[in-house]
Parts: sequence; structure tokens; C-alpha cells
Amino acid sequence: MRPTIAFLALPIVVHAASFTPEVSLLTDLPHFQGLEKTTIRSVLNIINGKKLKGTPFYFGSTLADPSVAPQNAAWTSARFKDTFNLAVAENNCKWFSNEPAQGVFNLTACASLRDFAFQSGDAFRGHNTFWHSQRPDWLANNTLNFTVEQLNKTIIPNAVQTVIEGLGPRLISWDVVNEAISDGATLGMSLTECVVNASRWPNFAIDGNASSPVLFPDSSFINTAFLNADKARKKIGSDLLLFYNDYNGGGDFPSQAKTECAFKMLTQLKSSGVPIDGIGIQSHYSANPQAFPSKASAHFTMDRLKNIGVMGAITELDVWLPDNSTESLRWQASIFGDILDSCLFSSNCNEFTLWDPRDDESWLDSIVSTGVHMGTLFDASGNPKLPYFEVLARLTNFAQGGAEPCATSGGTSVCVL
Ligand code: XIL
Repeated sequence: MRPTIAFLALPIVVHAASFTPEVSLLTDLPHFQGLEKTTIRSVLNIINGKKLKGTPFYFGSTLADPSVAPQNAAWTSARFKDTFNLAVAENNCKWFSNEPAQGVFNLTACASLRDFAFQSGDAFRGHNTFWHSQRPDWLANNTLNFTVEQLNKTIIPNAVQTVIEGLGPRLISWDVVNEAISDGATLGMSLTECVVNASRWPNFAIDGNASSPVLFPDSSFINTAFLNADKARKKIGSDLLLFYNDYNGGGDFPSQAKTECAFKMLTQLKSSGVPIDGIGIQSHYSANPQAFPSKASAHFTMDRLKNIGVMGAITELDVWLPDNSTESLRWQASIFGDILDSCLFSSNCNEFTLWDPRDDESWLDSIVSTGVHMGTLFDASGNPKLPYFEVLARLTNFAQGGAEPCATSGGTSVCVL
């Protein structure tokens, strides 16, 4: 099932001016040609075998319910063996799926994708336990008339604990809270302002009636979710990581304000003893001017996270195309490459996940109305595209102990490989 998107803000900025820089790619160099003979998974095995990152490096993708694209079943099963070593459920581990009726949990759909991943030799990350979108109908409409107290004392704790415990100790991470920060955040806001100004549930009355009592009047629901997630992982004896996950932050795209709110959340949670292990940077970008973070700012964010002792993760990368030109495709390849490098060459980033494995399964067609989309590494027939080979080249370079390439997505005026 592919549910419709409720209240999901478009994480994309479109710029009218068209400008495509000339970029330089690793795949242009003779050393990185002929890579079609190797697979991404074999390069990941080298990186992990040599313990180049200390702990495993995970290169993942979404896994949809098998009913979404049954015609791609054989392809999917092959790619989760020879390309990806990490999977995340595109929709099946979200709240609407896990708790279809209040207090009645059904983790079958989520667990079956987890099992598919494990059988393919992949790790599995949990996404997500708390989000204003794709929440269950019984909660969205508040037909049961919950109070603020019931939500914080019973409903969130039950949901978070049951799901994390139910999916078990072998998951590597969970996005505990997803997209709680307002798109209208501005620099200098308090955490409550960052969250309460989001103008959407959980900050407004969940029945959609602004005159009803606001069910989440401050940011304490975030503490509740993380504290219960921690309780659950301890109960099942797991060291899985607990992330806050969001878009349009993590660098200089499109503004610094959401990033600053996330850092405020991190420091406040940590100083009040609430466990949080890192920030997931969703990374929905496009090959347009200023529509993705510069490599320097992506690195800067990873370093800031490292300095306060937490992880960064790239959790939902896709890069949509404005047109079919070769120049745009090359730019897209360089953006994928630079974002991958910013994680690969940071000691506190071990998860790099693509949002959708191939173009015909991409959510972009349903949410972006301009451009030609095609924001993944594989085309609609499942064939690898230029960005795939650039990503493979970046991983190969890292596996061979190569230095970090310069910021190619800035164009050849700033960087030639
Ligand atoms: C998207 C899925 O890809 C779609 O199939 C679904 O209709 C809506 O949700 N941020 C997130 C993801 O955290 O859960 C969203 O996934 C994409 C944006």
C-alpha cells in the first residue's frame, strides 16, 4: 500500500534561474573506469573488512511493501544482496501501520521487511516511531478524545516501547522523532518555538480544530519519545542508535535555522539526561542552484555533531533532475558523490541511505511537480545510471585509501579532480 501524504511539507526549493555548472567526476578518470565489473556490496565488504570506518559502514535504501512494485521483486532481491547492505522500510514501520487501532499493534508488515533484509545479509534501520504524518486515523481524528496527559503518559510511551521492543535487538537504529521542527523556524528561536511554530500536529489540536486544546503545547513530547525508546532498547539489550530525523537542515541548504533548532534540541535533551545518539539528515535535494548543501557545510555539520559526541547520518538521499541534459545528470552525480564523501570521510557517520532504490519506485513523482525527477541511482528499468557509477567510484576511492576528493558539485571553477 502506498498511502497519500498528509501534511507533508515539500522539502524542495525550486529556483527559476537555470544554471548548470560544469563538473568534474571521479568516473572521468581512467583509474575509475571499468567499474561495471564490480559491485557496491563488494566494495563495502572491503571497507568493512579493513575496518576503515572503525564500525561497519552502511549503504542503504528504502524497501517498499512487496505489493508496491511486484514486477521488480527479482531486481530488488538481487540489489539488496549485491548493492545495499542496509534497508529501511519506506512506509511499513510507520505508526499508522504499527498501531492500526488504539492499543492494538500489528508489526507484521514491518517485521516482514526486516526479515527480508536479514535474509539478504543486510542491516535494518527503524523509521519511525513518532511523526505528525502517516499517523493512525484513530489518532489523527482524535475520535477517542485524548487529553494531553493521556498522550504523554500512555499513548506515546506504549507506541514507542511496543514498536522498538517488537522489532528486536538487531536493528542498528531508530528514527525516534521525525520532522518536529517548523519550516518557518528562524535563527534564535527557543526549542519550543522551533517546534510549536510548526503549524501542524502535534503542535495544533490533533482534530484539526484550532480552538480545541493544543495537545502538544511544548517540546516535551520529544523527551517522552526518546526516554521511552531508551527504556525499550535497554529492555531488549540492544545498542541500537536513537536518532532525530529531519529535512532541510544539516548544512547551508536552504537555511541554517532548522539546523540550529536541531542542535538546540540535541543540547537540551543531553543536558537534561535524555538519551539521543544522533541526527538523521534526510537530504531531499535537487540539481539546481542552492538546492543542496555545499560539501564544506555538510562536513561542518558532521563535525559539529562530532564535537558534541553524537552521530550524523544521511537517511533519505535523493537528488531530482530539472531536465534530461547530460550536464544536469553529471551535476546530479557530483551531488550524490559529495554528500556520500561528507559521510564517508567523517568518523561519526556510518549510515548512508537512499530514498528509493530506483526511479520507477521513487516518491518524487508524487511530490515534485517540476523537472523530470529521476532522483535515484537506477533508472525505471533498474539499470545503473551515471550517479551510480560515481557513487561506486567514491566508495572505491575510500576503500583504496584515497584522499577525499574536492567539492566537485561546486563546478570546475572551484574543483577539478
Ligand atoms: C514518504 C514515502 O516515500 C511515501 O511513499 C509516502 O507516501 C509518504 O512518505 N520524509 C520521511 C519519509 O521521513 O518517511 C517520507 O516517505 C519522505 C519524507
